Amino acid sequence: MKHGTGIIKEVFLDGSAQIDCTTDLIPAPGQYLLAHAPASDSPIADSVFFSRSTANGFIAAAPLPVFWMPGISLSLRGPLGHKFVIPLTAHKVALVAFDDSPARLHGLISLALEQKSEVVVLCDSKTSGLPEVVEIQPLQAMLEILEWADYAAIDVARENLNQLLEKLGGWDQPKARCEAQVLIRAQMPCGALAECGACAVTIHHQWRMVCKDGPVFELNELLFKSSRECGSF
Ligand code: FES
Repeated sequence: MKHGTGIIKEVFLDGSAQIDCTTDLIPAPGQYLLAHAPASDSPIADSVFFSRSTANGFIAAAPLPVFWMPGISLSLRGPLGHKFVIPLTAHKVALVAFDDSPARLHGLISLALEQKSEVVVLCDSKTSGLPEVVEIQPLQAMLEILEWADYAAIDVARENLNQLLEKLGGWDQPKARCEAQVLIRAQMPCGALAECGACAVTIHHQWRMVCKDGPVFELNELLFKSSRECGSF
């Protein structure tokens, strides 16, 4: 984990932003940085997820603070947390944006294509900038695509985790032989530094911190818990 400085080079209409920084600060897909604009009034750092590479840094996925403008300097800490890992044997990759755009999953597309995998993106939001070889399907097709895939990366907000697990209730993951990982999005103001608990979820009756134990979890670890166990402060 590093500390450093980033510069916002451009802010895009969809709310994403280009951040220039040294390569050792760039998070892998699924990981995050804590970013704080020293010039702002906010005492809290924001978590920033990788979307795409650029020549001098990366595109950070929306949403980002509305006051972030080109030229603003950021104090960065990271990369933090567990990243997505596509198994080398995976040739059919499903990227599931359960309740938002697929921006945080975008970085996996080039990794999957490098290992000659087919890629399907599932989402109900508008998509742009996806390579032509990538197939786009509505979320309604999720169970069907998970039967096809041998690896799935899923992006979901903590408050929608129960809903995701309920929808996956009818899916026999071991039979389908699909490895799956879930990025749980939650507010992560301290990134495990102060153990503030703001990002807690319960898994197997145990509190887990999204900032430290995640934000990417194995799906089979989550499927064992009952939906009522999933809580937050
Ligand atoms: S963000 Fe503080 S413990 Fe996770």
